[in-house]
Amino acid sequence: MTGRPQAQDFAGRLIAWQALHGRHDLPWQNTRDAYRIWLAEIMLQQTQVATVIPYYARFLERFPDIRALAAAPVDAVMALWSGLGYYARARNLHACARIIVERHAGEFPREAAAIATLPGIGRSTAAAIAVFAHGMRGAILDGNVKRVLARCFAIDGFTGGKQVENRLWQLAESLLPTGGIESYTQALMDLGATVCTRGKPDCVRCPLRGACVALEQDRVGQLPAPRPRKALPRRSARYLILRHDNRVLLEQRPPSGIWGALLCLPELSDGEDPRLVARQRYACSVDDIEAQPPLTHGFTHFTLTLQPLLCHVSKVEPHAAQPGLQWLPLDALDRAALPAPIRKLLAR
Ligand code: ADE
Repeated sequence: MTGRPQAQDFAGRLIAWQALHGRHDLPWQNTRDAYRIWLAEIMLQQTQVATVIPYYARFLERFPDIRALAAAPVDAVMALWSGLGYYARARNLHACARIIVERHAGEFPREAAAIATLPGIGRSTAAAIAVFAHGMRGAILDGNVKRVLARCFAIDGFTGGKQVENRLWQLAESLLPTGGIESYTQALMDLGATVCTRGKPDCVRCPLRGACVALEQDRVGQLPAPRPRKALPRRSARYLILRHDNRVLLEQRPPSGIWGALLCLPELSDGEDPRLVARQRYACSVDDIEAQPPLTHGFTHFTLTLQPLLCHVSKVEPHAAQPGLQWLPLDALDRAALPAPIRKLLAR
């Protein structure tokens, strides 16, 4: 199914399916506003639709257009991103808004190749924006599309590897229809998210049934091949929950690195004594320390075990105010820009 007629067959099946069974009322559909489409595509990277929807609404309420976003301090952007994860997306979003306002008079470029030069926008996201905002013809290849193609064309090998990925890009380009690019692109996304899912593919309802090589060969469960197993490095760190008068001490992280610019619990380096750090760095006298159950959090490149130490603070020196430190009331934690695992520790 790789020649031209077969490509039209592939696209034709998808476009017909999309009209009947695809998603038509997601909050970022039915608009040509590149700002809204771009924001959605960035939020949807590595994050499911249902999780994105409330964040998307809050974000647009606070930053209704690209000029509002570009004019905002980065901290306000991080606060609205708090809990979504992959915070580099928010920093890049903000940097990108400033570039578009300063160098492109507030207008998104039309061509995918120009969009892909902006911070945080890769080839697939750039194509999705160009398709949905401008009706430009271009191929997308996110995780869902890789799965659909790997199954339909029985492509072996890990789809994140360079060679397999190049092959998938070529295939994705060769399958593009001559018309209906928006429906086709949305169909690929919707099929991957709702029918050709990783765990429970629903081949009976699939429009590619009859054309899918993996189904014919009974290999749907094996494709796409999983990432070759490499044990992720493990790290652990202790975090101080310094609690005083229904407030907790939070410290802003440096702008780059994990949880860049977010508020975090003070982190102890290896071998540091919690009481000494509390006194010397945070001017707190600690009465009593309770080690709380650890929490494990998976990042893309390592696994972190967080060991929380609940410290009952008896006294805070009055000169304790320092830039980047905040004694936040417990009832204000909901609105603070906290990384998800830190929020979980505090919710206990
Ligand atoms: N995932 C990535 N982009 C998407 C979109 N525009 N609609 C639904 N899911 C998506």
